[in-house]
Amino acid sequence: MLQKLKELENEARLKVKNAESLEALKEIKIHILGKKGELTTLLRSLAALDPEERPKVGSAANALRLELEKLFISKEQVLLDQSRGDKWSIEQIDITLPGRQASLGQKHPLTLITDEIKEIFIGLGFQVAHGPEIESDYYNYEALNFPADHPARDMQDSFYITPQYLLRTHTSPVQIRVMEKLAPALPVRIIAPGKVFRRDDDATHSPMFHQVEGLAVDRDITFADLKGTLLLFAREMFGPEQKIRLRPSFFPFTEPSAEVDISCIICEGEGCRVCSDTGWLEILGAGMVHPRVLEIAGYDPKQVTGFAFGMGVERIAMLKYGIADLRLFFTNDLRFLKQFV
Ligand code: DAH
Repeated sequence: MLQKLKELENEARLKVKNAESLEALKEIKIHILGKKGELTTLLRSLAALDPEERPKVGSAANALRLELEKLFISKEQVLLDQSRGDKWSIEQIDITLPGRQASLGQKHPLTLITDEIKEIFIGLGFQVAHGPEIESDYYNYEALNFPADHPARDMQDSFYITPQYLLRTHTSPVQIRVMEKLAPALPVRIIAPGKVFRRDDDATHSPMFHQVEGLAVDRDITFADLKGTLLLFAREMFGPEQKIRLRPSFFPFTEPSAEVDISCIICEGEGCRVCSDTGWLEILGAGMVHPRVLEIAGYDPKQVTGFAFGMGVERIAMLKYGIADLRLFFTNDLRFLKQFV
C-alpha cells in the first residue's frame, strides 16, 4: 500500500510538472484529488486494511494529500504568472508616447476682474469687507433710507426668504454693517465685492450678478475726493487716457447722487453702436453718503462726511473683454472660460 502511494506521488509530480495550461492542471487535479480521484479512492480502501497497518498508511496518505494540494497551488501560480506575462508582452507600454497632461484650472473672468478692482482700491488704502448674501430688510433697504413703501424699492425687487429676509439686491448693506462696527472710529475705507440678486433675467440682466461697493468716511471728505478716486480707478482699469463723466441721479442713501460714465472704450468718445452714439458708457452709481445713513450707522453727520459707490462687475468685464452677452459668464462653456488668463 505504501508502495502504491509512492507510485501515485511520482506520477502526480510528473503530470503536474508537465502541465502546460491551467485547464490541463485542473484536469489532473480532478483525476487525483477529486471525489473519484485516485488518492481519494485509495484512502477509501483503507478500511479493508489490517487495523495495525491502518494508522501508518492513513497518515502517509493524508500527508501526501496535503503535499499534492500545495503542489497544485504553486503550479497554478506559475501558470497564472505565465499567462499574464504573455498578455503584458502584447500590451506593451509605449514609453515614447507623450504623457497625458493634467490640465490646471484657471480663474473665472469675473474673478479676474474682481481681483483687479480689489488691487486698485487696496493700493489706495481701502480694505476688503464682506457681508451676507441673505440679508435682512433692515440692512438691504431700511438703514439705507429706503422706507417700506418707497418706489425706489421697485427697481430692486428681490427673492424673499421670509418677509424679513431676502437675497440682497446690492452690496450697499455692507456699508451699514461696516460703519456700525467701526463707529465712531475714523477713517472708514472699504470695498465690498460679492454676489447680489434681482428679479431680472434677459441678455443684459441676470438674476444673480456681482457688485463691488466702495465707502470712505472721514472728516472733510468731499465730492472732489469721490471724483478723483473714480477717475483714478477708471484710468487704472481701462487705460491712462480715460475720461469720466458724472450725471445727476438718485439713490435714497446718497445725496447728491451721480451716475458715472467712462468715455467709450470702443470708439474713444467718437460715438458707436456700443455707446449708442453718445461716446459714454455707464459703469457705476455713486454719491455722498446721506446724512441719515451716517446717523443710522452711528456717525455724527455734522462731524463727518463720506462718499460711496457701487459698480457691476459683469458690466466692467463685458466692456474690458468685449463680451456681448452677459449669460456667457454663467453657462460655464470651457471654450469661453479658457480665453481669460
Ligand atoms: N446700490 C446701488 C445699486 O445697486 C449702486 C450704488 C449707487 C451704490 C450709489 C452706492 C452708491 O454705494 O453710492 O443700484
